[in-house]
Amino acid sequence: MAETLRPERRLLGACARIDQIEQDAELAACVASQFSSVTPEIHLKWNSVENKEGQFWFGPVDRLIAFAQRNGQRVHGHALIWEQSTPDWALHQLRRDGDWGLVERHIHRVMGRYRDVIGDWDVVNEPIDTQNGRNGLRRNTFQQVFGSNYIERALETAHEAAPQARLLLNEYGFEYDNYVEVERRAAFLSLLQRLLDQGVPLHAVGIQAHLDLGKGPIPARDVADFLQAIADMGLAILITELDVKERDYRATIAERDMRVSDEVRRYLDIALTQPAVESVTTWGVTDRHSWLQVERGDQVDPERFGSAAPNRGLPFDSDLRPKPMHVALQDAIGQNQQALRR
Ligand code: XIL
Repeated sequence: MAETLRPERRLLGACARIDQIEQDAELAACVASQFSSVTPEIHLKWNSVENKEGQFWFGPVDRLIAFAQRNGQRVHGHALIWEQSTPDWALHQLRRDGDWGLVERHIHRVMGRYRDVIGDWDVVNEPIDTQNGRNGLRRNTFQQVFGSNYIERALETAHEAAPQARLLLNEYGFEYDNYVEVERRAAFLSLLQRLLDQGVPLHAVGIQAHLDLGKGPIPARDVADFLQAIADMGLAILITELDVKERDYRATIAERDMRVSDEVRRYLDIALTQPAVESVTTWGVTDRHSWLQVERGDQVDPERFGSAAPNRGLPFDSDLRPKPMHVALQDAIGQNQQALRR
């Protein structure tokens, strides 16, 4: 593997929830001291800002932004259009009325409010589905109501709402060597090419990078070629949701932690060779508040863990002690984070 380029200029970020930060001083100190960028885990999603029609709830976003600003951190805008975080009332209205104005008002309201603080926005989250989709695009409500060019429309609308903002598509499932992820990489590249050919405002991509210890070795050449193809289109690349899904919880803690950190090292060795990769954000900070779940089919030793096997796929453990994954991140990217604060 070639030398990692310009690591000193890359940002390390994490997603966070202000309610958790406010209730947990240790977590607050950890987020504040270890990361240069913060992504609201839930607060910017449509079902958070407007869970009930016309009742807006920007308090948590405002408080997380204030926290980030106190700590000299950037804030990443996640996510404007995502089926899973669209409130039911909006999905219902979209299906009933087919009115783009509803999407437009949402995008303008959210981006307009944070135009001066948030520079990068995940405009469409998870548009790819090669298994049940249409031409590789997920058959979500937006696609069904407005057709596949809802993506173009969302990007155009976002560009109107905040002309200075960098606009992203954010997507998962590009890291492994199986037919689904081979197809997903190809579908994503053709979507990007189509959008750029049409002159749609698209400036960067978010690669979620939810790593998974059950999916076999990471195919270095395929992943490097994929990232190079994105860079060749002139797009910046942000690793937006890095974490590691464990599958086998039966080994010792030390062994599990090494597996997690080895996977992160393998991935970042590949990804950070690509100069277009600007930042790495982990999807969470500590196992105390982890979105990672034990799933059916995972190997769990009931005697060791009872029914709850805590996940270890994030950089800090549930006592906020740094784990080998944290060291892997520091080695790859983190050393100069203080100098990057603005
Ligand atoms: C997840 C959050 O972590 C959960 O707390 C929430 O309940 C659902 O969303 N891909 C994404 C993120 O883009 O927004 C998701 O976050 C995780 C998968």
